[in-house]
Amino acid sequence: MIDLDGLAEAECLPLRDWTPARERMLQEVLEGLQRTEKSIPSKLLYDARGSELFERICELDEYYLTRTELAIMEDHAPEMAAQLGPGCLLIEYGSGSGRKTRLLLDQLEDPCAYVPIDISREALRQSAETLALLYPTLPVLPVCADYTGRYEIPKTETDALRRVVYFPGSTIGNFTPEEALEFLKHVTEVGGPGGGLLVGVDLEKDRARLEAAYDDASGVTAAFELNVLARINREFGADFRPERFDYESRYNDLMRRIEMYLVSRRTQQVRIDGVEIPFECGERIQTEYAYKYNLETFARLAELVGLQVERVWKDREDLFSVQYLTWE
Ligand code: AVJ
Repeated sequence: MIDLDGLAEAECLPLRDWTPARERMLQEVLEGLQRTEKSIPSKLLYDARGSELFERICELDEYYLTRTELAIMEDHAPEMAAQLGPGCLLIEYGSGSGRKTRLLLDQLEDPCAYVPIDISREALRQSAETLALLYPTLPVLPVCADYTGRYEIPKTETDALRRVVYFPGSTIGNFTPEEALEFLKHVTEVGGPGGGLLVGVDLEKDRARLEAAYDDASGVTAAFELNVLARINREFGADFRPERFDYESRYNDLMRRIEMYLVSRRTQQVRIDGVEIPFECGERIQTEYAYKYNLETFARLAELVGLQVERVWKDREDLFSVQYLTWE
């Protein structure tokens, strides 16, 4: 039998695969669920179904982030491209659908290559293929990996004048400030001396607007968060019953973050890989944080690891920012 999938992969876009081994992911899941404050790593949310549901979140009225960031890109992509300069290697973390990337690539002068890095293989393959078709002269070199982990940036034929990491979506808000520092340090290593970071950062705003964005009326966000339980069942042979959990989120204004949880509706036991995980009624699993920054707190954080904010672009309502940072 001809393996069409394998063939397509071999002949079109070779995907470099650095995804963490199943065994390691299982250990991370078990470790998180055995703590007193239970948690699930948020990167697990993005299986094929999760990536689809996340794309639907991006279309929601309540979820102002995506359309606002897109509008900022539409208005300012030429200035951003000028900042990044000619001949740059563009590395994108968590590439998703690639709509924002296209706005940037349309303006960049002679980019040397585009390296999308994403943990969701199918979403990565699709967006990389679309971009390769749209930019026939641009080398597109997809890497399937957890971008906070270990992977190599593929070699390019011509040397880049500069490496720029593009990290849109305010996904940096998933990290605690300590993790964000680690991450920023990692970015300076990947980008090397003279590199840059173009990053989407969501801004502090009123509680009502934030809470609506993370708990929409049609329940897409709840479905997205609950999907992680079905994924853990499928991939790690667990026996979660998703209907026995509720999605809950709230803005913690002291910590400046949205906290997202799956809350057990009853006392229950879940088995994962032979390990019993007990839940009390009302006990919760933390799935995600979404930290919100203001321009000062973000700049100060970045400075701690030697990054300078060069430019900030915002929408008219100051909902969201796209920032360009550099380091020596
Ligand atoms: C993909 C991490 C940017 O935090 O806004 C949206 C994820 N979760 N709604 C965010 C998410 C629930 C999203 N990021």
